[in-house]
Amino acid sequence: MQIQKGPIGIFDSGYGGLTILKDVVNALPQYDYLYLGDNARAPYGSRSFDTVYHYTWEAVQWFFSQGCELVILACNTASAKALRSIQQKNLPLKNAHKRVLGVIRPTAEVIGNYSRSGEIGILATTGTVESESYLLEIAHYFPSINVVQEACPLWVPLIENNEFNNPGADYFVQKHLQQIMQKGPAIDTLLLACTHYPLLMPKIEQFIPGGVKVISQGTIVANSLVDYLERHPEMANKCAANGQIRFCTTDSTAHFDANGAIFFGKPLKSEHIQLGH
Ligand code: DGL
Repeated sequence: MQIQKGPIGIFDSGYGGLTILKDVVNALPQYDYLYLGDNARAPYGSRSFDTVYHYTWEAVQWFFSQGCELVILACNTASAKALRSIQQKNLPLKNAHKRVLGVIRPTAEVIGNYSRSGEIGILATTGTVESESYLLEIAHYFPSINVVQEACPLWVPLIENNEFNNPGADYFVQKHLQQIMQKGPAIDTLLLACTHYPLLMPKIEQFIPGGVKVISQGTIVANSLVDYLERHPEMANKCAANGQIRFCTTDSTAHFDANGAIFFGKPLKSEHIQLGH
């Protein structure tokens, strides 16, 4: 019997997951990828558990309808607020052979290795911070590490509106960096726990104290996927490998193509799809 193969699904509330997709494609260029940004309903960062779960599960079902066997939630907010319910409640019912993975666990598995001081700062959306997912996951892998969190609710809108390079962004970047360093003076590692934030890297580096490392998730998630597919050849076998990438958005394709290229680092062409009603 011939195995049904499909692209690897990569989901984000908007453009942020393209920063993850870029590193995943670099690490595993042979596979086919299907990217979906739910731009029409972004940002997710300030939405309730129920809403983020409902939106994310709709997106995952759409990936399944497109033939995906493996879907990565390349959005911390969706990973924090929807992944567990999807894995524990939804998949066993009808899709036990499919896999949905997130970005929080792979990050938590390694982030402690970056710190010498034993104190790590997490910069994230309000939703990710409130979920306390990073506190729980990091405590599991690195029980002696102290984790300090800071929600940066205006960073995603600044980035989505292309203001991340402008002087107006300085105030909000500096404010949250000062606040997290006050809460955790021994922090030597700052994790950008939102897939949008790597675009603010030049400004963040301008305002952090010397000796503090800033870590973004792209390569961490990419390395973890390489490892996962090596450990799960049955899943690797179900991933189509023609080196093709398809981009979809729930909002304007013209906006997606213009803004998405900044996140992905290359020109791209998207298709419009609809989720929910
Ligand atoms: N990119 C999403 C994340 O990683 C957040 C963006 C949003 O608020 O929708 O958390």
